[in-house]
Amino acid sequence: MSIKSPGLFIAFEGGDGAGKSTQAARLSDALESRGLSVLRTREPGGTPIGEKLRSLVLDHGHGTIDPRTEALMFAAARAAHAGQVIRPALADGTVVITDRYIDSSVAYQGAGRGLGAEGVLSLNEWATEGLHPDLTVLLDVDPSDGRQRRTAGDATEDRLESEPDDFHAAIRHAFLDLAAAAPSSYLVLPANAEVETLAARILERVESLIAASSVPAPLDGETVVGDHP
Ligand code: TYD
Repeated sequence: MSIKSPGLFIAFEGGDGAGKSTQAARLSDALESRGLSVLRTREPGGTPIGEKLRSLVLDHGHGTIDPRTEALMFAAARAAHAGQVIRPALADGTVVITDRYIDSSVAYQGAGRGLGAEGVLSLNEWATEGLHPDLTVLLDVDPSDGRQRRTAGDATEDRLESEPDDFHAAIRHAFLDLAAAAPSSYLVLPANAEVETLAARILERVESLIAASSVPAPLDGETVVGDHP
């Protein structure tokens, strides 16, 4: 947990095509424009070894990957991310915004691949030494909407995205179950709402968390007036 660190840890979660990256960027811009120190990052990735693991685990070119191997690869990338990037930033009073974290492994490997939530959670507790977000924003997406959104234009699907709709339906339910088990740590929003509406609701919740936290106030002269467009 980041309880004792002065930063704030926010994760965006949801199925593929939920619009997490757009909302993570909006939130990061809004907080930076208020003069706060913000780190925007993603999983798998966020470190050099994490980016290598990302391309190994997402590319179609490596043949079938055993589900436990897959879970361990995501957890290995996450261990580096949590230890080398997220914890030090939180200790410096930074607001860390990650696109995906432990819930993605519980949903995709636990539910989607059938490994079960319990084992995947305990693997990730160990990998991150128990580092959990202060808030998880779950953008809840219907699997067929998600597929339509991510294949718009000529975009191709990665190894996990190209799994059938029932795989993505299991993932959706796993995310919702995690949120229902700890409602005060989640903000669940419908991914098909207007981008502006979603951005405003997320910012409102994060600002109230910042007000109640020990995130350092912006230094004099650092505040930029107004949001980015
Ligand atoms: P993402 O970065 O959201 O994909 P993109 O940037 O291409 O939209 O996530 C990559 C894929 O990895 C996504 O299908 C979800 C999957 N994933 C897992 O299966 N387990 C995990 O622990 C994580 C972090 C991602």
